[in-house]
Amino acid sequence: MTPINEIDPDELLKLLGQRRDIRGNRFTNQPVSEQDIDLLLQAACLAPSVGYSQPWEFVLIRDTDTKQQVKASFDLASSAAADQFDDDRQRQYQQLRLEGIVDADLNIAVFYTPSDQPVLGQASMPEVGEYSVVCAIQNIWLMARTLDLGLGWVSILDPEQVKKIVNAPPEHKLIGYLCIGHVDQFGDRPELETLGWAQKKPIKNCVIKERYANTANGPV
Ligand SMILES: Cc1cc2nc3c(=O)[nH]c(=O)nc-3n(C[C@H](O)[C@H](O)[C@H](O)COP(=O)(O)O)c2cc1C
Repeated sequence: MTPINEIDPDELLKLLGQRRDIRGNRFTNQPVSEQDIDLLLQAACLAPSVGYSQPWEFVLIRDTDTKQQVKASFDLASSAAADQFDDDRQRQYQQLRLEGIVDADLNIAVFYTPSDQPVLGQASMPEVGEYSVVCAIQNIWLMARTLDLGLGWVSILDPEQVKKIVNAPPEHKLIGYLCIGHVDQFGDRPELETLGWAQKKPIKNCVIKERYANTANGPV
């Protein structure tokens, strides 16, 4: 095994910086190989998880009819979501491409599968089970990028509808719906940044030294 200190931090930053969220306008129709799917799943299952519970399941979707049903859920959720923005922002929202469900060769519905036994580390923060599944998704995203596969995370959906479409057990919770496929290109920057929707937050704006000052909670 390669000693970990031979992994160049700059190379890792490059991978993290070049990961992109990909929408339908970028996917090509080249299929994702079984070998690549296997690597994506291996990466997912190397994620950390609370109490080593590995509380994840991945539904691999390639059927066009299934994708179209999920796309219908997106369409409904997206037009409802547009209403929360006013005028200019709403117009801009309506022009954004926010999914690639049918265009991507492979869709993966990623579920949290709660344990019926106590999980070490999860008693006081039950949500950490779901966070573990998010870690698995990030691993898939990074492995996809190393394979030159685009991935788009679609959250503008009715999760209960998606559960119904894939016949998921009632106790499962949808954490992410991923669209994966070969792409014509990866942008250098997040698309929402290029289009002027949002800007990158400087690191110094997200770092607090020691404690927050003057919050509603007051000093600890
Ligand atoms: C939890 C989560 C949900 C997201 N949902 C959507 C979505 O529904 N539609 C979309 O176009 N992008 C979605 N995104 C992608 C973000 O818009 C994207 O990550 C962000 O703009 C930064 O761009 P980048 O991923 O290319 O760096 C989601 C990302 C995350 C982490």
